[in-house]
Amino acid sequence: MSTEATEKKPIDFARGLEGVHVATTAISWIDGQNGVLLYRGIPIEEIAKHSNFEETSYLILYGKLPTKQQLEEFDAALKKNREIPDDLLDVIRKFPKDTHSMHVIRTAISFLGGFDPDAEDNTPEANYEKSIKIIAKFPTVVAAASIIRRGLEVIPPDSSLSMAANFLYMMSGEKPTAEEEKIMDTIMILHIEHGMNASTFSSIVTISTLADIYSAITSAIGTLKGPLHGGANERALRMIKEIGTRDNVRQYVENALANKQKIMGFGHRVYKAYDPRAKILRGYAESLSKSRGDMSGIEIAEEIEKIMIEKVGGKGIFPNVDFYSGLVYSHLNIPMEDFTPIFAMARSVGWCAHVMEYLEQNRIFRPRAVYVGSKDAHYVPIDERK
Ligand code: CMC
Repeated sequence: MSTEATEKKPIDFARGLEGVHVATTAISWIDGQNGVLLYRGIPIEEIAKHSNFEETSYLILYGKLPTKQQLEEFDAALKKNREIPDDLLDVIRKFPKDTHSMHVIRTAISFLGGFDPDAEDNTPEANYEKSIKIIAKFPTVVAAASIIRRGLEVIPPDSSLSMAANFLYMMSGEKPTAEEEKIMDTIMILHIEHGMNASTFSSIVTISTLADIYSAITSAIGTLKGPLHGGANERALRMIKEIGTRDNVRQYVENALANKQKIMGFGHRVYKAYDPRAKILRGYAESLSKSRGDMSGIEIAEEIEKIMIEKVGGKGIFPNVDFYSGLVYSHLNIPMEDFTPIFAMARSVGWCAHVMEYLEQNRIFRPRAVYVGSKDAHYVPIDERK
C-alpha cells in the first residue's frame, strides 16, 4: 500500500494557527469578545483582589484552591527551593553586561535542568516537584541576572518574605512597603497564565517529544522573548519615553498607523475587547504615578490609549497586559531590561501546569507545511552552475 493512500486528508491551512485548537485544557479560559479571563473558572479580578501569588500558583498547578494546610506546605516548599547554585551565579557573571536578560535567564533555567538529578523523570510526581523548584528559583535567577548586570553584589533570598516581597528585596536590597508588595504580587498573579499563547505552545511542543520539563520551559522562555509576545512590555515603555510629552502623542500614533507600524502593548489574537489584566494594571499605574508625584508617563500612556481606541478600537485593538505593566515596574524602580524576565518568572507557573496537563494527553506535535517549492529541479554539477 502506498504511503499516500494511508495519509489523512490535510486540514485547512491557518497562518499563525489562528483559530486552531491544539489541545484541551482546564487551566484558564478567555472570552476575547467580552474581555473575560478565568483561572480554573475563577474571574481574574476576584483572584487579583483576594489571592496572592503562592495561592494562585497552587490553584493553577493543582486545579483547586488549597486548604490552609496545603497552602502552608506549598509555601514552605517554595521557600526551601529559592536558592540557586553558586556555579550558576558564575555562569551569569560570564555574560557580557549588555547581553539581553532573556538570554541569561533562558541559559540559567537550562543550566538548572543539568543539575537536577530528576530532570529525566517525566512522572507526574517528579514533574510537580520540579515545577516547584523552577517556580521557586526563577525570581532568584531574574534578580541575580539583574543585579550582576548592574555590577552589584547578589542578594540571597529571604525566607521570611513572600515571593513578591522577596523578589523586590533581591532586586534592591531593601524590603518593600506593603503597597509595593501588593502591587508586585498582583502583577505576578496577572502574568501567571494565559491559555495557548505562543510560549505555552512552545513548551508543550517540546514536552510532546517526551523531552523534559526544563527543556520545555527553556523553549518557552525563548519564545516569550520576542516583541510580539512578552518583549512588548519593554518596548511599550521605551515608546512612551521616546514620545516624551502628551502633545507629541497624536502625531506619533498617526504616523505609526499610517506606516503600518505596530504600537507595542496593543492588540491581541484572542482579545477583541479591553484586556482585563490591562484594566487592573492601568489602575496601579495611575495610583503609583500619583503617589510618586510623577504623572508624565501615565499621561502619555492614557493619551496613546485614547487615540488608539479612536483610530483602531473599531478593529478590536485595545491595550493588552504589556501596555501599563512597564509603567508600574518603572515606579517600582525595576530596570526595563528586567520587564520580560519578570513576565517569564510569573508565567513559569502556567508553563509548568500546561506541560503536566499535556503529558496526560500526550501526542507528539508534527504538523505539516504547505509545500510551495519546485518539484522538477535536478542536481547541477558545481562547474556548470551559473
Ligand atoms: N498597533 C497597530 N495595529 C495593530 C496592532 C498594534 N499593536 N495590533 C494589530 N494591529 C492591526 C494590524 O496592523 C492588522 O491590521 P490590518 O488588518 O489592517 O492589516 C490587524 O490589526 C490584525 O493584526 P495582526 O498582526 O494580524 O494580529 P495577530 O493576531 O496576528 O497579532 C499581536 C496579535 C498581539 C501580535 C499584535 O496585535 C501585535 O503585534 N501587537 C503589538 C505587540 C504586543 O503588544 N504584543 C503583546 C501581546 S499580549 C501579551 C503577550 O502575549 O505577550
